[in-house]
Amino acid sequence: MCGIVGYIGEEQAAPILLDGLSKLEYRGYDSAGIAVYNGTEIQMIKSMGRLKVLSELTHDGAKLPGTAGIGHTRWATHGAPSDVNAHPHFNKTGSIVVVHNGIIENYLKLRQKLIRRGYEFVSETDTEVVAHLLDYYYQGNPLEAIAKLMHRLEGSYAFGIIFQDHPGEIYAVRKDSPLIVGASSRGNLIASDVPAILKYTRSVYFIENEEIVRLSKESMTFYNIDEEEIEKQPVTIDWDINAAEKGGYEHFMLKEMYEQPKAVRDTFSPRIKDGDIVIEEMGLSDEDIKAVKKIYIVACGSAYHTGMTCKYVFEGLARIPVEVDLASEFRYRNPILEPGTLVIVVTQSGETADSLAALREAKKRDVPVLGIVNVVGSSIAREADHVMYTWAGPEIAVATTKAYSTQLIAQYLLAMKFARVRGEMPDEMFASMLEDMERLPEQIEMLLSNKEKIQRFANRYVAARDVFFIGRGIDYAISMEGSLKLKEISYIHSEAYAAGELKHGTISLIEEGTLVNAVVTQEELFKKTISNMVEVKSRGACVMAVTQVGNTEVEKAADYVIYIPKTNRYFTNSLAIIPLQLFAYYVSIGKGCDVDKPRNLAKSVTVE
Ligand code: F6R
Repeated sequence: MCGIVGYIGEEQAAPILLDGLSKLEYRGYDSAGIAVYNGTEIQMIKSMGRLKVLSELTHDGAKLPGTAGIGHTRWATHGAPSDVNAHPHFNKTGSIVVVHNGIIENYLKLRQKLIRRGYEFVSETDTEVVAHLLDYYYQGNPLEAIAKLMHRLEGSYAFGIIFQDHPGEIYAVRKDSPLIVGASSRGNLIASDVPAILKYTRSVYFIENEEIVRLSKESMTFYNIDEEEIEKQPVTIDWDINAAEKGGYEHFMLKEMYEQPKAVRDTFSPRIKDGDIVIEEMGLSDEDIKAVKKIYIVACGSAYHTGMTCKYVFEGLARIPVEVDLASEFRYRNPILEPGTLVIVVTQSGETADSLAALREAKKRDVPVLGIVNVVGSSIAREADHVMYTWAGPEIAVATTKAYSTQLIAQYLLAMKFARVRGEMPDEMFASMLEDMERLPEQIEMLLSNKEKIQRFANRYVAARDVFFIGRGIDYAISMEGSLKLKEISYIHSEAYAAGELKHGTISLIEEGTLVNAVVTQEELFKKTISNMVEVKSRGACVMAVTQVGNTEVEKAADYVIYIPKTNRYFTNSLAIIPLQLFAYYVSIGKGCDVDKPRNLAKSVTVE
């Protein structure tokens, strides 16, 4: 949940570290720090607060000269955000320095042991244990000390480490937390994620679990936990570098919402070939598809909401029973995974700890796992038996928009493919769904162009205390995402309810002026949801409705109506979510919240 970077080369390290951290701030932003080796000693500056505080303290890096260093941006887990808990962390003499992403689960036991051996702790973090344990094992050979350390640690980690008596080297290692290494003509780098090093190189090595790397300015050597040298091949990253910059937009979230037409198109168009759906990288044969008897879609947060929608799509089109599980529940609930089950893990980052654990749980039980993943080469992409990529490009804003939209598209494509292979979908229906899918990008664009109207409406609700979202079927799944978007970036309490459930308790929360957002896109359910809107309206609610063009009947029960263009009934989420994203965004900026970096949240949840 934190971001780490490291650099060793010809140039001053500190500005490169600060620049790398600025691309990783989405991973955590309650404190930051850097440590740079100046040839004689390791100097460190760290501070609570955003990266800009660190940039000021270090005079944009000028206060820490040296050509090798490591840096960290933190999302607190052990110990509150504070200067002292910020990383890096030193051993007692200041000769070993460490940055860490992940959680050391047995840190309390190790801490007690180290205290008994005379070590003193200055912070409350689990990471400080690592610095002292390295000190304890270190006899002049960094590799040996790191391997011994790894044998003692339980939990997840990616470390960047510098040893003062090994000038010209930095070390990195990982287990269950992401870590990449980049090779450039100006030096070598480590980072938690690709955007941090894109400016310097596109040639990247993915470090696997329990691998160690030693970097010097002109070389990199990889080892396994037994300290044996191993070979690794670089991967070329072909992301557009501008995709990781704001490019004139006020916020990443706004930019990413505007990138949705392209992201959606990039995700479906290479897969539609000669009127058929071909998902080249996936490696599931028609026989494999026919053999599937049950699907589990497992994910967290917004990715889970795409699964909630696509349960209806898979069941409706391919007639396969689908269960949708939160990864944090699935991993512990001992699910019944019989032969013929396919587990689909949906994830933007490919590093979400619970989703990764759910994947491993399914694999342990010999059930094939298909990962729907955005980040190429991420842990879930590598560990899943089959992968289907979403082509959203880098998503920086903590609140997902474009990755969410592409996760929907990927699952629509899969459901259609499954339906076709299993003989559940007539040709005309398939062709007409493909046509509807191809129209989605321009329809999304059209909805985005209505942003001023939604902004005016949103401005009326910046002081709201509670907002409810209601819908039935797919509309309920859309409501869940609309509600999450609003609460995570505006801090307004919000809940989504299946509209039919209101009268079983929730309706007692409705007061004069409470905002209820109703999603009404499923034709066969129009009348039912409209009755629920009437019920809340007659109890004083103000009702905003999102519905398909032509469904003017909702106007009788709504104070404000947003129309979405007509599309296939299984695709309405892709359109209805756009005004709800805009609504959340404008309420958030109306309240003066930090839209891209909401409090207490981080983009990539690599801890449990
Ligand atoms: C909300 C949001 C989160 C993520 C969730 C899963 O806007 O972004 O709810 O959807 O943390 O993350 P990934 O998709 O990276 O597994």
